[in-house]
Amino acid sequence: MPTAEEFDRWYADRGESAVADDLVRRVLGLPPDLESTSLLTGQAIDDVVELLDLREGTTLLDLACGRGGYGREIARRTGASLIGVDFSRRHRAGESPPRRRLPGG
Ligand SMILES: C[S@@+](CC[C@H](N)C(=O)[O-])C[C@H]1O[C@@H](n2cnc3c(N)ncnc32)[C@H](O)[C@@H]1O
Repeated sequence: MPTAEEFDRWYADRGESAVADDLVRRVLGLPPDLESTSLLTGQAIDDVVELLDLREGTTLLDLACGRGGYGREIARRTGASLIGVDFSRRHRAGESPPRRRLPGG
């Protein structure tokens, strides 16, 4: 299992490659600016939004949120509040949801 420090380094490298993010967005059919660190497609986001039935006044807990792209997109579409949790310390100020480092991470 990768450690938090390994994910920190991975995010640091990834942050220097806007081209990689653009490529991933295009291949997965994601909205512009969504920062993905996985393989969830644009269609899958539609499905998740429908299945979760979130709305204003509810809270989405995004565990292992990474850079928070998916959680922010779902919260934006539904009006739900967002809490993102990840053990990597790597994030960009002002762009990421609140995060907590989990015990043992
Ligand atoms: C493949 S990335 C996915 C990030 C995000 N969910 C996405 O889809 O873009 C996996 C994320 O899980 C986090 N992670 C892995 N194990 C974790 C743990 N035990 N506690 C908290 N976060 C963890 C990593 O730091 C990393 O950001």
